[in-house]
Amino acid sequence: MVPNTLFMGQQLFFLPVCESTNSEAQQLLLKNKATEGCVVLTDEQTRGRGQRGNFWEAAPGKNITLSVILSPVFLAVRHQFYLNMAVSLAVLDLLREQGLEQAQVKWPNDLYFEDKKLGGILIENTVNSLSIQHSIVGIGLNINQLHFGIDTATSVAAVVGTQLDLKRLVARLMEMMEKRYLELRSGKLGKLRHEYLQVLYRYQEAHAFSVGNERVTGRIVGVDEDGRLAVEINGELRYFAFKEIAYII
Ligand code: BTN
Repeated sequence: MVPNTLFMGQQLFFLPVCESTNSEAQQLLLKNKATEGCVVLTDEQTRGRGQRGNFWEAAPGKNITLSVILSPVFLAVRHQFYLNMAVSLAVLDLLREQGLEQAQVKWPNDLYFEDKKLGGILIENTVNSLSIQHSIVGIGLNINQLHFGIDTATSVAAVVGTQLDLKRLVARLMEMMEKRYLELRSGKLGKLRHEYLQVLYRYQEAHAFSVGNERVTGRIVGVDEDGRLAVEINGELRYFAFKEIAYII
């Protein structure tokens, strides 16, 4: 299904099986074969990559597994987290349209429904000294899978109780991504950050976190320009980069 977009998803490579769509996208970039908004879509990854060096596993043919190639040359390197926010919001726009009103983003960019993971985003940027040259935006979203090896995962079908049309959802995701990406391109950084905070998992609530080997109780109060999580712990405001703090769920 062709998305109703200017460029997002207009060029599409479908691979029935591949190691990782992010790696395939990287190859396309190296060979100069991709235009902005190009999508690599697969039914099955054999070495899907997640954040923190984890593997990303998904049942073949049941989920959204894709990478989008972007050239956000307009985005200063110090603002790169805004791309994470824009993409997270686009995926949430899709989830909410499917009836998952309670879906949220777990910082930095996991998609959550209640206390379970629906999907994740892995963004790999190529930067020069001032700006981002290319971004590979990898998205894994559990759609029709009903059984998981872990009880901390869920899917859209498990929540809504019906199977969904994957092709239609991919096209819709491209439409949502283009809308958010154009907001980013036109400099609506404040709007994106504001909306991201509105949908942030455990925002402004007291919860347990682990910081190093320590278990602390903290309250997320924001995200700074660099994408660091601002958490109030024992009356003190502290900022954490990715991997420096973990939610205890
Ligand atoms: C995470 O939550 O750890 C991020 C998961 C990102 C997975 C997607 S699936 C499509 C793309 N290709 C990959 O190898 N990883 C991302």
